[in-house]
Amino acid sequence: MSVLIKNGRVITATDDYIGDIFIEGETISATGRKLTMPADTTLDATGLLVMPGGIDPHVHLDMPFMGTFSSDTHETGTRAALFGGTTTVIDFVLQQQGHSLREALDQWNSRAKGTAVGDYSFHMAVTDYNDHTRAEIKEMVEKEGITSFKTFMAYKGALMIDDRQMTALMQEVRKQGGLVTVHATNGDMIDYLVAKNRSEGRLSPLYHYLSQPEVTEAEASARFTDIANYTGCPGYIVHLTCEGALNAVRQATRRNQHVFVETCIQYLLLDASLYEKDFDGAKWVMSPPLREKKDQATLWAGINQNLVNVVATDHCPFKWEQKKMGLNDFSKIPNGHPAIEHRMELLYSEGVHKGKISLNKYVEVACTNPAKIFGMFPRKGTIAPGSDADILLFDPQKQHTLSAATHHMNVDYSAYEGWELTGKVQTVLLRGKIAIDKNNCLVDKGYGQFIRRTPTYTTSL
Ligand code: URP
Ligand code: ZN
Ligand code: ZN
Repeated sequence: MSVLIKNGRVITATDDYIGDIFIEGETISATGRKLTMPADTTLDATGLLVMPGGIDPHVHLDMPFMGTFSSDTHETGTRAALFGGTTTVIDFVLQQQGHSLREALDQWNSRAKGTAVGDYSFHMAVTDYNDHTRAEIKEMVEKEGITSFKTFMAYKGALMIDDRQMTALMQEVRKQGGLVTVHATNGDMIDYLVAKNRSEGRLSPLYHYLSQPEVTEAEASARFTDIANYTGCPGYIVHLTCEGALNAVRQATRRNQHVFVETCIQYLLLDASLYEKDFDGAKWVMSPPLREKKDQATLWAGINQNLVNVVATDHCPFKWEQKKMGLNDFSKIPNGHPAIEHRMELLYSEGVHKGKISLNKYVEVACTNPAKIFGMFPRKGTIAPGSDADILLFDPQKQHTLSAATHHMNVDYSAYEGWELTGKVQTVLLRGKIAIDKNNCLVDKGYGQFIRRTPTYTTSL
């Protein structure tokens, strides 16, 4: 099968030109002007942006968490991602404390293999670092192509590791050529503030926010950055939300250290005033919580300053019935919000269309940097001969409205209900196949492939 895309405005992290793309089988075989190869299918992209498929490196599909499971499976979540122009996601395997990494990987494989619609890879979350786990790191990198190891500095008793484990893990991961990623918040401070608010009868979603002040994230981000510097291990902070935490990373650049930073679309667009809506605020109960308008400004600036390298989602959806587990106690509301489908369109509309970031920067933070940092580049994340033909045809003028009534995620509310956006996904190709065309999904459950990743060679961007 061959596909010729004609006359689109081709955008990569560095290029911007009107041209054509020729695809043979699953990969791009040529790019240029006025290509004339005969093709089985020709797509006219006049007036459209032609960009690499999005990569969302932070999603939680079918994940056991806080007494329930996130409501999108690998099937529904990757399909919704495709509808929104994201062709590859990286999901988190969670080691269970007292158990091996291998056991966890087997469980996640059994849920994802044969069910994913879009491409996916895994981060391995190390929640119990010991001699046995140490020996498994090499195996994950070399045998499984899993080169990033997630750590939590919060969720004590379930996921959190201490600084002793963090230091030892980073030493080992560095040796094996991997990367350590972190949920950087001070778990002990948060646990204290949660307990205090609960014991004093402050139980609404607002207190979820007030139990995780900015300092909890700033302190842990600085500590993680210091441990990364000491061990020499590449580090990546997930879902960074605020000025204090970004300043810790900025400070590290003074000693010529680079820690990769991811923020998520919600932290750029939403703020903590949403927690004042009584229990409705549960829709935005996530960790870290939404912050202030000044933090949004810091994050947008951080993108343009090359301090924030990636915009992800931390997609972790729960249905309203599940959120209601915390109706009378904010600490029981499952943490997480749905966004896998809307990241590319929200970031375009609110970022590019409103003049906050350039088109090249858009592709860089939503497609190219995730591929580079996580060892998938140049197979994924760009438009070039030899790369997978994961391509997005995007109408930059089209206006539309987000709603739970029309989205494809398996969740019965939208965190962006009624938002009017400019710019819409029109057609999505995944490894040379038309996967989405004008709101129809044309690939089946099982089409999604596991993407093995290489060690991270990129140390700065
Ligand atoms: O609230 C969140 N972020 N839920 C998912 C788990 C995590 O901390 O990333
Ligand atoms: Zn987290
Ligand atoms: Zn997460």
